[in-house]
Order: sequence, then structure tokens, then C-alpha cells
Amino acid sequence: PASDPALVERARRAKAALGDRVFVLGHHYQRDEVIQFADVTGDSFKLAQQAAARPEAEYIVFCGVHFMAESADILTSDAQKVVLPDMAAGCSMADMATFDQVEECWDVLADAGIADVTVPITYMNSSADIKAFCGRNGGAVCTSSNARRALDWAFSRGEKVLFLPDQHLGRNTAVLEMGLSLDDCVVYNPHRPNGGLTEQQLRDAKMILWRGHCSVHGRFTAESVDDVRERVPGVNVLVHPECRHEVVVKADHVGSTEHIIKTLTEAPAGSSWAIGTELNLVKRLAAMFPDKNVSFLDRTVCYCSTMNRIDLPHLVWALESLAAGQVVNQITVDAETTHWAKVALDRMLALP
Ligand code: 13P
Ligand code: SF4
Repeated sequence: PASDPALVERARRAKAALGDRVFVLGHHYQRDEVIQFADVTGDSFKLAQQAAARPEAEYIVFCGVHFMAESADILTSDAQKVVLPDMAAGCSMADMATFDQVEECWDVLADAGIADVTVPITYMNSSADIKAFCGRNGGAVCTSSNARRALDWAFSRGEKVLFLPDQHLGRNTAVLEMGLSLDDCVVYNPHRPNGGLTEQQLRDAKMILWRGHCSVHGRFTAESVDDVRERVPGVNVLVHPECRHEVVVKADHVGSTEHIIKTLTEAPAGSSWAIGTELNLVKRLAAMFPDKNVSFLDRTVCYCSTMNRIDLPHLVWALESLAAGQVVNQITVDAETTHWAKVALDRMLALP
């Protein structure tokens, strides 16, 4: 079993044997059995910042998903090797935008005469070649903790934004934080000719939202919020901005995983919280704050299945292999993609 004490001991030994040669990063959605071995935990932004924090480490073991490990490879030197303990740890949202589809979309915008005035912004949850596309075309990366600042930056450089691939983060930020209207936003469907939009619709829009979403956060509904308010009097509803617009509208607070943890940390004892994000994190928060009433926003179980691919057996295998001199599951991004993706990532990291 994953919580086998013998495996815990093996992970500890392998990590100790590697010493400063290994740096383990862990996203907040990782399992407890994995997160206990992380040198740094964080949201996507913090992990991108931290990736380059230990230039002396030969190996970065990334306990998270593929696009995060790719970003770590882009942001670190060629000498450092990034390892993803299970190659099947992808992200269904990132898979909803392929490079070819995005290039085709850009051609559609060019035909409508608006590519020159559109700034592409991609959520961190995208493949390296999409980040490179944004870097090459005057755009940037954002995460859930700086989407507002990235959009302000984009609108200072162009009239419109193409927001990839999470329509919800794009819409929630534009409408709830920047005062745009829902009518300013259109959804580009890569599976329809011209995205399913007329040239006039594209010309009228300020935000062109890619038709992507997170299947985990997509499970929370407006009814989930109504239901928990009925069940738990005085409850504070705190959700991630990957949730649908109608859920975020009904919530009391919205923010990245790091923001969610900070909010709970600062909340008064005895207060009640319903959290709309991945279940590993919500369970950890409930255990961390026994003096607060922490519950999951929905009645159904809601793990991110790909984050959960990284389990203790995979971590032990990765660490023991490295300790034995064998680099397994290395994530590498080619030099050309790295160059342009880094341009887009650096623009995010330089945001005020
Ligand atoms: P953050 O940790 O940046 O809030 O992102 C959440 C997420 O879905 C990562 O895949
Ligand atoms: Fe992707 Fe959603 Fe899982 Fe995050 S929680 S890795 S966005 S599927």
C-alpha cells in the first residue's frame, strides 16, 4: 500500500543519500504521502519562481503535473535535470489546446484583421509549445495568482486578449476583477470552423476565451454553493478561479491554492469554510486547522486523477533511481521552444 512505512523509509533514505543534489518541489494538490518529502510546496506561480532557487541541485524532482515540470526545465539551467515521477501525470485542461489548433486560431484572428491588436496570454496549465507561441507573438504566461496583472499588462499592449486554455479563469478575471462585461467575452471552440464565431463577433470581443476547462473544478455548481449555505449556517465559500463563473459569482472568496491556504491560516477559530478546489488540499486544510470547520464544497469526491498519479511508490522509484545514478522520466524541452516559452514566462515573472 502507498502509505507503507517501509516505502516512507526508502524515500527518506534515498533522499538523504542524494542530499543537496536533489530538490523536491510539490504542488498543493499532491497526496500527503508525497508532499511530506517536498523541500518546497506551492501554487503554480511559487513553484515556477522556486524552480531556479537551487542552481546547485543536479536533479529537480517535480511532484506535480507535466506542464509544471516542463516549466521547471525551461526556467533552470541545462545542467539541471527535471524528473516527473510518473509520465502519465498530465493535465486534461492543458491537453485541450494543441499547438496546431492555436496556430489555426491565430490565422482566424488574422483573417478577421485583429491578430495585430490581440495579445495571447496562456495560463500556466498549457504545454511548453503554447507558452512558446505566446512568447513569439508578444504575449505572456499567467497563473491563477497573477491573472489580473497579466491581463492589465496585455491590455496595455493591445486591444484584445486571446486567453488560453481556461475559459473560466479568463472570464472570472476579466469580468469579476476588471469590470469587463460577459458580452465582451466570446468563446473560441477549436473543434468548429472559425472557432464557431463570426468575424464580427471576433472584432467586437475584448476577451477571446479558448474553450478549455478543468474537469475537477468543473464539477462544482451554483447548487453546490446553495446547498452548503443551507447545510452550514454562516459558512464562508472559498473557491479556485478555475471554477465556473456562476460558482465564483456566488462564492465569498476566490484565489489560487496558495491564497486559499493563506486565507484559512488567517481565518478566526470557530469559523466555517467550504472550499471549492481539489480534495487532497481540502483534506490537508481540515487536518491543519482542527479549530476551524473546513468542508469540501461538493458532496462528491473530487481528486485530480492526474495529480494523484504521483504516489509514494513512484516517488521512491524516482529517488532510488537517481541515487543509483540512473536518471528516469526526465522532462526536456527543446532549445527553440525553451527560448520562446522562457520569454513568455519571464514576462510573467517580471509583472509588478
Ligand atoms: P494554482 O496552484 O496555481 O492555484 O493552480 C491550481 C491548478 O489547477 C494546478 O493545476
Ligand atoms: Fe489540470 Fe484541473 Fe488537475 Fe489542475 S486540477 S492539474 S487544471 S485537471
